[in-house]
Amino acid sequence: MFRLRDILEQAQERHVAVGHFNIGDFVILKAVFASARVLNVPVIVGASLGERQFIGDHTFAAMVRGLREEHNFPIFLNADHTHSLTDAIKAARAGFDAVVFDLSALPLEENIEQTKAAVKELRAINPAILVEGEIGDIGTGSEIHDSAPDLAKGLTRPEEAKRFVDATGVDLLAPAVGNMHGMLPGMVRGEVKKTLDIERIAQIKRETGALLTLHGGSGTNDVSLRQAIIEGINIVHINTELRVAWRHGLEKSLANDPKEVVPYKILQIPIDEIKQVVIARLRLFNNIG
Ligand code: G3H
Ligand code: ZN
Repeated sequence: MFRLRDILEQAQERHVAVGHFNIGDFVILKAVFASARVLNVPVIVGASLGERQFIGDHTFAAMVRGLREEHNFPIFLNADHTHSLTDAIKAARAGFDAVVFDLSALPLEENIEQTKAAVKELRAINPAILVEGEIGDIGTGSEIHDSAPDLAKGLTRPEEAKRFVDATGVDLLAPAVGNMHGMLPGMVRGEVKKTLDIERIAQIKRETGALLTLHGGSGTNDVSLRQAIIEGINIVHINTELRVAWRHGLEKSLANDPKEVVPYKILQIPIDEIKQVVIARLRLFNNIG
């Protein structure tokens, strides 16, 4: 039996991070799982509220549990960016391994009060569930944005991070450290990269001692990501890069063979394109090669 907490603690000791990839459908899940198996590293798959509404909480949980049991492989399911206790409880009851309880849009005191209550409720449903809290502003949407939002004022302050972690009892903290959800067009073309505030990550780690998650990983430069992991990031989230590969692969596949109607044949190219992205990211996070 695999426990996500053990996997994260082992990763922390080895100065590597566990990759978290959002899965909007079975194509992405299949590509992510195949990639983790190629490298034989644990992996987390996440579903945002929109993705959960599209597939269904119980269906997601059954698919991931099925893969874990059939292949005896450490794959875990996270309820990403959940903004209400009702949705968090639904995910916990469906069997998700972790929940990102994201009230970062609220004033800190309200965020603390409600996250603390959520930790208690969710652990009553599943004592092994991991609850992640979030403070600071990293923007919204794993999409291609026309311009970068001004996130400078929403960077997480180390002393606030400590207060939040101590008061809420969360298992994981998602800070704002120069990261941003989504990509800019120049990032999709590979001309521009996101960079991270490494010193802030180190300070937050020192202050809190908590397990840390980096959201908005798409388009971040490799050196920043490795440094962030060395300074204490334990999970890295990637979503937009997979969505770009999914679309690009599908367009290529349909253009290659305009008459093909068999879904599993059409979908092979998108799966291969997504796998390339995931394998490269997992190599970096796990310091392989
Ligand atoms: O929760 C999802 C992520 O933080 C993904 O962000 O789309 O920038 O990779 P991204
Ligand atoms: Zn995120």
